[in-house]
Amino acid sequence: MCGIVGYIGKKNALPIVIDGLKALEYRGYDSAGVALWDGVKIRFEKTAGRVSALESRLSRKSWSGKSAIAHTRWATHGKPSDRNAHPHADCQSGIFVVHNGIIENYAELREALIREGHSFLSETDTEILAHLFERPFLSAGQIFLEDAVLEGLRHVNGTFGLAVISKHDPEKIVVARRGSPIILGIGDGEYLVASDASAVVGITKNVIYLHDNEAAVLTPSKMEIFSTLGGSAFGGNLSKKTLQKPIDKIDWDISEAQKSGHPHFMRKEIFEGPSALENVLLGRLLEEGSAKLGGIVAVRDRLLQAKKIIISACGTSYYAGLVGKYYFEELAKIPASVEYASEFRYSNPVIDPDTVAIFVSQSGETADTLEALREAKKRGALTLGVVNVVGSTIARESDAGIYNHAGPEIGVASTKAFISQLGALVLLALFLGRERGAVSDVLGQKLVMELKALPAKMKKVLAGDAGVKKLAEKYSKYKNFLYLGRKYNFPVALEGALKLKEISYRHAEGYASGEMKHGPIALIDENFPTVALAPKDPVYEKILSNIQEIKARNGRVLAVATEGDEKIGKLADDVIFIPQTLEMLTPILSVIPLQLFAYHTAALLGLDVDKPRNLAKSVTVE
Ligand code: AGP
Repeated sequence: MCGIVGYIGKKNALPIVIDGLKALEYRGYDSAGVALWDGVKIRFEKTAGRVSALESRLSRKSWSGKSAIAHTRWATHGKPSDRNAHPHADCQSGIFVVHNGIIENYAELREALIREGHSFLSETDTEILAHLFERPFLSAGQIFLEDAVLEGLRHVNGTFGLAVISKHDPEKIVVARRGSPIILGIGDGEYLVASDASAVVGITKNVIYLHDNEAAVLTPSKMEIFSTLGGSAFGGNLSKKTLQKPIDKIDWDISEAQKSGHPHFMRKEIFEGPSALENVLLGRLLEEGSAKLGGIVAVRDRLLQAKKIIISACGTSYYAGLVGKYYFEELAKIPASVEYASEFRYSNPVIDPDTVAIFVSQSGETADTLEALREAKKRGALTLGVVNVVGSTIARESDAGIYNHAGPEIGVASTKAFISQLGALVLLALFLGRERGAVSDVLGQKLVMELKALPAKMKKVLAGDAGVKKLAEKYSKYKNFLYLGRKYNFPVALEGALKLKEISYRHAEGYASGEMKHGPIALIDENFPTVALAPKDPVYEKILSNIQEIKARNGRVLAVATEGDEKIGKLADDVIFIPQTLEMLTPILSVIPLQLFAYHTAALLGLDVDKPRNLAKSVTVE
């Protein structure tokens, strides 16, 4: 996720904002930049790569000034490069902006601004903002920077956390927030703005958290915060209402601040699951019950001719692909198979021009998945990537694709990315189903409505975290586990078992519940518990009978079931309830208790949850 830092006060702003960027490096990024008001003009420097690369460029200059804004970029629109790095400026380099978030209507705004004569240097959505803020100065001459910003934001749909400086109204930083965190630091005669506490806590622990549709003006002598009316865009009208907001005290140290108060990145990322789903759906759900996917427009015609879909990935992404198979067959009525990338690349897959090969990868750099992609391309398939890291190799080498926009996933164990991948795959299947006439208006609209409702249901599951922690304590004495699921929840059983294995080092085996009698039931006794995914769905009764078979052999059962289910409690030893949802969307809810269970088990055992032994976040070698 991008990082923002700004400073205005009596010290030299440059080293302060660079140190702030370093505190934000943990968030993951691909480029960095800074803009500084030196009392005469705005100086700026930006580069692809690390903050250290920016520092070495700055070391050759002797800049100093009392206000600056800086940024680390996590690419969403436009690959990592010097010109796509923030800050971005207007045509006259008189206004500089750093921004976190996604501007949904940036394409239309860019066209309109180009028609008005604006010229663009980058491929980013953020650069739009600088030109939108420039327009009021062009028409009204001298106005306050905050009014130019609010006027510009009236036209923006999407999310932003931003900071702006300008030579037209210097000695000032304007900040605004909708949907992307902004925190203000209050020092002694100095003010800071940042995207999270870790960038300010080294200077001050007195902070104010901006809320959505709030903005602020920071000057060396004062800070003014105001709310603007919401409306479809930011500032329904320009009336500003000054706010008195309470000053909070950060009670974290810097390392905790990077985890937003969570003890581990993994727990933070599990709790980011709802926003990860919101971000992959943002701007892509259509009221008429379909999906809008800009990343596949170029290959739409060929995609609609697909006769076969092959999904290939590794690990958690492979399990997401297994759920995706059900989506494509149920919604798009296209036969789909799922292959381990490490197998696919050495087998002899039957591929022809109407085969679509989909490669799912959070990092976009997994060696086996990348080689499988190259093999599929060589054999003539249309290749799509479902990737989280913009500009990564798999993203670049796929013919087209869908970005997850889940933000960086720091914990080695993949959690929010899995949920985001399911979101991307259901969108693609819905798009294909609607375009091919295989999904009715009614079903499409029902699916869109439930997808919109899902983040709130996910938060309800997360609210049960303390209960899952107690169950992890209760089951932590066991060394072996069986995870069972059917149909849409069979891949979730596999994923839940992988989570437990990879961070608690306890053996866990995911299995198709119907297969239990064909062997694994021999494992069951009072020392070999089973986690059973048993939501109210068409195969519910089947899983119940599997649970009975386990109980008949003294096996303990921890079930994940649908709220209101009164039967399951009489059978299973313990139950974690999830809200009712559409059958095909239950994996997005049922995986959460399994993520939490694995997390708490590993944490209870005092293991390195974020960096488990023997594992890497991205397996870039065979
Ligand atoms: C999942 O928790 C693991 N860390 C691992 O299985 C991972 O999913 C796999 O290596 C694939 O990574 P990718 O999504 O970046 O390609």
